[in-house]
Amino acid sequence: WPANLTRVDGDLHLAGHSLTALAEEGTPLYLVDEADMRNRARAWVSAIGDGDVYYAGKSFLTPTVARWMVEEGLSIDTASEGELRTALAGGVPGERIGLHGNSKSDSTLRLALESGVGRIVIDSPGEVDQLAAIAEETGTVAPCFVRVTTGVHAGGHDFIATAHEDQKFGLSLATGAAREVAVAMSENPHLELLGLHSHIGSQILDSEGFAAAASAVIDFAAELFGIGIDVPEVDLGGGYGIQYTGLDPEPATEAEMIAGIRSAIETACERAGIPVPRLSIEPGRSISGPPGMTLYRVGATKDVMTDDGVRRYVSVDGGMSDNIRPALYGADYTALLGRDSSADNVPSRVVGMHCESGDIVVRDVALPADVRRGDLLLVAATGAYGRSMASNYNLVRRPGVLAVSEQGTSWLVRPETWDDILGIFPDR
Ligand code: LLP
Repeated sequence: WPANLTRVDGDLHLAGHSLTALAEEGTPLYLVDEADMRNRARAWVSAIGDGDVYYAGKSFLTPTVARWMVEEGLSIDTASEGELRTALAGGVPGERIGLHGNSKSDSTLRLALESGVGRIVIDSPGEVDQLAAIAEETGTVAPCFVRVTTGVHAGGHDFIATAHEDQKFGLSLATGAAREVAVAMSENPHLELLGLHSHIGSQILDSEGFAAAASAVIDFAAELFGIGIDVPEVDLGGGYGIQYTGLDPEPATEAEMIAGIRSAIETACERAGIPVPRLSIEPGRSISGPPGMTLYRVGATKDVMTDDGVRRYVSVDGGMSDNIRPALYGADYTALLGRDSSADNVPSRVVGMHCESGDIVVRDVALPADVRRGDLLLVAATGAYGRSMASNYNLVRRPGVLAVSEQGTSWLVRPETWDDILGIFPDR
């Protein structure tokens, strides 16, 4: 359960604010516990010590969030022009922004170079010439990483595993594609090769996969060292897992993760006889996931006969438009009733208001038998890839995101209005 959630006189409170009162803003409503998010960011910074933490903005980014992260000593990892513009709008200095993407446009690369971003991660052979031409045109030297595919398969769902050969990201170590690109980069006067990048997947709970990837990356760095190409830095990407429900295993701590990674890097460097490069990482979910939650209001309920007995379907006022993860990955969450109840729990499924049977919010949860229309339900750990992957499916208004702290509340993202929805139609 969220770090600063308490029950006071039968009502849930987040950082001192009653959820009943917060729900007056309208539901569904995303909440972010600012102190918890800052603490998680700080934990990575202190674990990495002499190294860099790039917060993965794709998990949830607003100008204010970008500013929080910079205040806590992090840099920002962006994966699109929108994320880049959002980080810049938050006042993040260009040199503390990284840019990813397997299909970056010329205009995005131009904006990145003109903003002085600290690193652009090259993901395909053609990008070397594409970026070099824009660097030449803008009179800059592009600071680059090359993203390599290590072949390490780790983490959750296939859609979010990224280091096996047959997927779209990175340049293969096995086929020599990464080497060709690194050589081309090092020979190009408009590019500066700063380091190697690897991202193996998401929702990974221990350091083993990262250690294996690190060791493959260092072997490659040694190969490059042998042909006169220096690799001052290694970035191992994101993917550090969190607990979504009480049944999920506890992930390794930030310190354990970094210790496992560092030890693999040091061993590999010693074996290869090369200097130890600087380390950076790009955690997203582990910073933004647990501090975020979604508050829904219950609508219709019904009991359905299943092979295992009766299941209570509890419908809420949001669903797959504000959290696509259950439908997309079969992701599990847990829900808590906003008020006290002495009723016995019954096997329940929280579902959304969309016109699809896959529109599930929480697949299996025990909820009090007296859950009824108008109740508040809180779903935990929706802060990562919740709002950031939200849609207007069924022409719903995407919910706002309210930051909550002991000091007060403020909108990180304002709730959409009916004007936002109808305003996109020129033929209205
Ligand atoms: N760095 C790179 C290059 C990435 O591709 C990603 C995630 C991250 C960092 C951050 O990963 P994190 O620490 O947040 O796991 N929508 C999916 C996750 C897709 C992640 C894609 N890349 C989900 O909801 O689980």
